[in-house]
Amino acid sequence: SQDNKALFIIFGGTGDLAKRKLYPSLFRLFRKGNINKHFAVIGTARREWSDDYFREIVAESIESLQPTQQEITDFTSHFYYQAHNVNDTAEYQVLGDLANRLDEEYQLDGNRLFYLAMAPRFFGTISKHIKSEKIMTENGFSRLIIEKPFGTDYETAELLNNEIGAAFKEEQIFRIDHYLGKEMVQNISAVRFGNNIFESLWNHKYIESVQITLAESLGVEERGGYYDQSGALKDMVQNHILQVVSLLAMEPPTIFSEEAIRTEKINALKAVRVYDEKEVLHAVVRGQYAEGKLGDNSFASYKDEPGVEENSQTETFVAAKFMIDNFRWAGVPFYVRTGKRLTEKGTRINIVFKSTPINVFREASNDPADLPENILTIYIQPTEGFSLTLNGKEIGDGFNIDPVKLDYRHSQENLDNSPEAYEKLILDCLKGDATNFTHWDEVATSWKIVDIIRHTWDKETTPIPTYPAGSMGPKCAFDLLESDGHKWVWEP
Ligand code: BG6
Repeated sequence: SQDNKALFIIFGGTGDLAKRKLYPSLFRLFRKGNINKHFAVIGTARREWSDDYFREIVAESIESLQPTQQEITDFTSHFYYQAHNVNDTAEYQVLGDLANRLDEEYQLDGNRLFYLAMAPRFFGTISKHIKSEKIMTENGFSRLIIEKPFGTDYETAELLNNEIGAAFKEEQIFRIDHYLGKEMVQNISAVRFGNNIFESLWNHKYIESVQITLAESLGVEERGGYYDQSGALKDMVQNHILQVVSLLAMEPPTIFSEEAIRTEKINALKAVRVYDEKEVLHAVVRGQYAEGKLGDNSFASYKDEPGVEENSQTETFVAAKFMIDNFRWAGVPFYVRTGKRLTEKGTRINIVFKSTPINVFREASNDPADLPENILTIYIQPTEGFSLTLNGKEIGDGFNIDPVKLDYRHSQENLDNSPEAYEKLILDCLKGDATNFTHWDEVATSWKIVDIIRHTWDKETTPIPTYPAGSMGPKCAFDLLESDGHKWVWEP
């Protein structure tokens, strides 16, 4: 592998994301040689830390990867800490001087990657200063990685985009959606465009419904403060779910390149029907978890979580039916759902094919009903793989039909060796490949789809429906499909 040259400047270097995701990912890249001699990291945040202390924290953050003492020393020697107030122009000069010094010392050719791992309200001022204080280089690349949330609605997203855009060009901006770094989300394209047996059936003639479930068993944990302002719609649907929808719905790109894929994803998102308020009330439902039990565990209600308002009306669950108004998808519902404190952690896509036009076995078998549908399942996590259910003949006399499941899952060994989402995305960014990042047009289109849902709910006066923690969501989420004659597919 190639020793990519770059200086990483991490804003929010003492934070949770940096410790949980970024430093471990950098270490994995280091181990594989994707970064090696020619890289350095500056961590910045308000508090005063020494380089030594910072290196200890970095060492702690990679403990679970079981590094040798030598690896720890080598790796952490590339880390530097600079206390920094993002609103103080003078402090950017100090930062810039350190950056220049490290650039020379490690021969980084002016390549810089600015990672904003902190609250979005600071994105604007940081980007402005990076430019005005000339921390951006003329030689080498300057790239900006930003975390979600990207705005809280279309308007604020646009403002933010304009602020960032005043300093960075679109092709320098890498907006993270970590779902795009997941192995099995990337596999959606492999399944579709690598298999003619699927791609030729991938349309309204053969597909009954598409179902996407992003279920979580955890509650809001320590993030009540953020989450209560956001809710599942903005936390999961605007970004992760609509990204998965676009990958499933897009037209085949002519070639698997950043630009070709992006064009098709944007077209798909633009074809998602933007509902009016009345339609929202029929097509989108929400819920909030109440107390509940699962096995021996009992869980508190959302309203009792730390940081959550006593009378909060924030949704911890959303289910929706999206329609895509184009030739390929006319009439095919895309059912999506996500929620916290559900029965299990499970991210899956089910493609439910139409059943045969008639059941020719209706008299020969003991069941005259329509035949079960063929279902292609993509397991995204925690297990990763595919399954396909087919109808076969039950062994023995008569002609009873019995669905069988062809099931492939990646082995634990494969999973252990597969790169983590953040690791892949950081490497993509080092290489300048933005395929698995969200373009502004995607962000903008997604906000337009969800804004109307939020506005409709904001006007509601009836209290939000609840569901017991440990269940699969409120009753209305099941009714949503039942009223169309469908039901959620959910098998292990
Ligand atoms: C984040 C959300 O984007 O995704 C969290 O803010 C959520 O609320 C998380 O828990 C889920 O990610 P993953 O990778 O665990 O499925």
